Amino acid sequence: MKPSFTASFPIENFHVRDEELPEFTDMNFEHIDQLELDHPGANDPEYRKRRDYIASLARKYRETGEITDVEYTPREQRVWRYVVEELDELHQKYASSFYLEAKKNLGITSERIPQLSEMNRQLKALTGFRLAPIEGLVETRAFLSWLSYRVMLCTQYVRHHSHPAYTPEPDIIHEAIGHIPMFTNPDFADFSQFIGHGARLATDKQIEELGRLYWFTVEFGLVEENGKVKAYGAGLLSSFGELEHAFSGKVQWRPFNLEEVINTPYNYSDMQPLLFVIPSYNELKKQTKKYIESFIGLPA
Ligand SMILES: [Fe+2]
Repeated sequence: MKPSFTASFPIENFHVRDEELPEFTDMNFEHIDQLELDHPGANDPEYRKRRDYIASLARKYRETGEITDVEYTPREQRVWRYVVEELDELHQKYASSFYLEAKKNLGITSERIPQLSEMNRQLKALTGFRLAPIEGLVETRAFLSWLSYRVMLCTQYVRHHSHPAYTPEPDIIHEAIGHIPMFTNPDFADFSQFIGHGARLATDKQIEELGRLYWFTVEFGLVEENGKVKAYGAGLLSSFGELEHAFSGKVQWRPFNLEEVINTPYNYSDMQPLLFVIPSYNELKKQTKKYIESFIGLPA
């Protein structure tokens, strides 16, 4: 017999209506207004003011449900242009073909910083995924749980101009260049939602496992395409250093094995020494579904 809480939501609920979205009130934020001292903008009061202002738009979103467009400054646009032009070249070599196509279809180019509102509209039409502005890092369970509603929390501010190639926290470059195009893939979108379902049901140990699964796929995933290995993870696609490193021959590539992935620790501050290669997004979705079903005692 299934435990009673399986009734709280079906595993395959790929169409989430607006009225089914929960309130944002249950979220635990993690020091969102504080910047660690190693943040390149920590000692730049003007930058901090700007970052706080853009973060305040995310708070406004939670009150109004409307995404406010950011009028990015010429300096922010220059940072975007520089990073995206550099990455474009690497993407041609190393990014998965689905990602390349999706980025093009979403109109994400080096020309200008795309607005969350426009990408949200496109995603919603394509896969029913939504984007919700957020001030910064949220604790893992809350962040992942939103995926259960096909919602990705995204920052809107831009990294500090002194270190355009580096950001210690997610910014709009990481979100728009790294994450957002992949949510136009139906299998990837469903897989992300399964991780979200898992986060709503998980024990603390399982949250740690889900964090690893997310890390080795959504952030640092590789996929096999026509006998070649390509990148689809946001942490790779939004970082020149990580992307080149992943294909430098110095990183161990292993075939994706869910059991191994959820038991493999990672270090977020070093270059990744080990990455996992999925055979396809559909296979990732299938294996993840089976794993999440094990949380609620459904037959595997
Ligand atoms: Fe990310």
